[in-house]
Amino acid sequence: MTIAAAPQPVSAVSRTLIVGATGFMGRFIAEACLETGRPTYLLVRSSKPQTIKALQDKGAIIQLGSIKDQKFMEKLLKEHKIDVVISAVGGERILDQLCLIDAMKAVGTIKRFLPSEFGHDIDRADPVEPGLKMYKEKRMVRRAIEEKSIPFTYICCNSIAAWPYHDNTHPSEVLPPLDRFQIYGDGSVKAYFVAGTDIGKLTMQAVDDERTLNKSVHFRPACNFLNMNELAALWEKKLGRTLPRQTITEAHLLAAAAENIIPRSIVASLTHDIFIKGCQINFTIDGNKDLEATSLYPDIPFRSMADCFDDFVTHAAQKSQQPQKPHYQCQNSHVDGKTVEDIGNYTVNHSILFNYQPIET
Ligand SMILES: NC(=O)c1ccc[n+]([C@@H]2O[C@H](COP(=O)([O-])OP(=O)(O)OC[C@H]3O[C@@H](n4cnc5c(N)ncnc54)[C@H](OP(=O)(O)O)[C@@H]3O)[C@@H](O)[C@H]2O)c1
Repeated sequence: MTIAAAPQPVSAVSRTLIVGATGFMGRFIAEACLETGRPTYLLVRSSKPQTIKALQDKGAIIQLGSIKDQKFMEKLLKEHKIDVVISAVGGERILDQLCLIDAMKAVGTIKRFLPSEFGHDIDRADPVEPGLKMYKEKRMVRRAIEEKSIPFTYICCNSIAAWPYHDNTHPSEVLPPLDRFQIYGDGSVKAYFVAGTDIGKLTMQAVDDERTLNKSVHFRPACNFLNMNELAALWEKKLGRTLPRQTITEAHLLAAAAENIIPRSIVASLTHDIFIKGCQINFTIDGNKDLEATSLYPDIPFRSMADCFDDFVTHAAQKSQQPQKPHYQCQNSHVDGKTVEDIGNYTVNHSILFNYQPIET
């Protein structure tokens, strides 16, 4: 794929509003936006005061409100002369963005809108329900943007760098398996894994780049193009031991999706689409409507999965050294019955879980 123009520098003055900055994906984007030094406005509701304070301390300008209030949004966009709007509202609030789109249309000065995507190309991927419902809503948002001629960029960053649990929406907040691997199908279907910090950084590159205007940007770092078997082998190197493998069949994933327990069943349906059907890899990027991030920004390195797995080892070790023992219960069945602290203690005291000699990858 050829990319015509040279990268444009990220503007230091585009006034940027982020919606959903207190959320999982939005936090990465807000942090990266603040790092660029541009005026960064965060639209927040009342929850998560500590996260809001931490972002405010880094220079964020906080605005309280909801994107569902169109008149309020018009006033905010006008008064603060917002150029760029990035939305990272969660899967269950996707259609709230329709009001935001109406507000941007009414104001008429928005130079770029990035709707809440941050996953697959939702016009191409075709998961079973209930993932399909979320994709249909994201497609409705895309069509509204295009019909109203709002300048856009769609970020298709693929999978967050972590062990891809089929029952956890935010797997990068949970340790990879310590007892057994659950491998989807034969474990041979590849996917792209991207660190949250890189999703934030590359998103901020794309917002002011003329080349990405009205295009989709796909994140396909070759260094993190892995199947489940390769991912398991990488984590085993960090652990210093092998783990048993259990096959999770296509039928099992479809049954978990059919249970329709939200959000877990959405994750099961997307896991099926990725690791059984290959939704991240069954199309090519033509360089016209679709651009690829490593081609656009060849000088920006992506964090490797090996480095991301090192973070989990570090977190577990740090936990083990904390004197206090708050009991955060682990969120996934792979560590049933152990607190995070327990796992940390095991890492220091029991070489059965971690061989503490650093292992080169
Ligand atoms: N590629 C991946 O692996 C991956 C993983 C996870 C998510 N995603 C995608 O990333 C996007 C964000 O998901 P997430 O899981 O990060 O969401 P999340 O953690 O649920 O956070 C959603 C954020 O949106 C805010 N919000 C919701 N409705 C709002 C409204 N009407 N007005 C203002 N703020 C509102 C929430 O504020 P409150 O705190 O006040 O509720 C919160 O800050 C989604 O499109 C999702 O599909 C991708």
